[in-house]
Amino acid sequence: MKIFALLGNQTGHSFSPLMHNEAYLIMGIDAHYVAFCVDDIESAVRGIRGLNICGVSITIPFKSTVIKYLDAVDERALKIGAVNTIVNQDGRLTGHNTDWLGLTIALKEHMKIEGNTFVILGAGGTARAAVYAIKKNGGNPIILNRTLEKGDELAAEFGCESYHIDNIGNIRAECLINTTSVGMNPDIEKSLVEGNILKQFGYVMDVIYNPLRTKLLRNAEKAGCKILSGLDMFVHQGAEQIKIWTEMEPPRGYMREVVFQRLKLRDKNGD
Ligand code: ATR
Repeated sequence: MKIFALLGNQTGHSFSPLMHNEAYLIMGIDAHYVAFCVDDIESAVRGIRGLNICGVSITIPFKSTVIKYLDAVDERALKIGAVNTIVNQDGRLTGHNTDWLGLTIALKEHMKIEGNTFVILGAGGTARAAVYAIKKNGGNPIILNRTLEKGDELAAEFGCESYHIDNIGNIRAECLINTTSVGMNPDIEKSLVEGNILKQFGYVMDVIYNPLRTKLLRNAEKAGCKILSGLDMFVHQGAEQIKIWTEMEPPRGYMREVVFQRLKLRDKNGD
């Protein structure tokens, strides 16, 4: 049996084990995906080799720090500066990034990226993947961050504009994407953007998938925007990981349905 794993420091409520294990079952792959909550990423990476774990997902807060413990990093992940996927080939660990592709696929299911302006909230690892994805597809990202210097640094690297988040009232764009964790379960009554400001955007996307309808998305819908939850990006980034690890196309629709149903059940139970 092949073992796949998730490494992060808040993995207890992750839906990745459910999504991956259901996919392997349907695909007829003898594999199991398990989540580890770790503090020390360096020794956890040694554990990948020691335990012969075939593939690993990396999540908050290790997407950037993990890079220095790997043997190689794929060109796109290097440019983004974040790794969310590791492949173990006979003890040689290579880092990849599927977040940018997950975001690209999810966005393109609803709108054109080329020629459109996207306001990105945040300047962390997920924001980096979003800026990369939008630039690569011919869109125009504008970074808005709480810490201006961090946003400016990212903007300089990718050649785009950056402002302090307080300036959001002055910026119009086709789409707003929240890449911060503000509004994620259990802080479901938090949002970085006031409801009336959201009218400036045609689409509002949240990378958060838990809850499915964050406060940002609820307000955006009231303001008349089209809304995109983080569920599709989550499914596609995971599906792209499975593709890298197994060289097979996973059942994306089924994976989405499994996670969607579990999230709905959770919302109903008030968990
Ligand atoms: P990830 O890798 O998931 O993107 P991260 O690297 O910790 O996570 O980045 C989180 C981003 O969300 C940061 O840009 C952070 O802003 P700062 O650069 O000012 O720290 C942003 N963020 C997190 N909590 C926030 C909050 N309460 N208000 C505004 N921005 C916040």
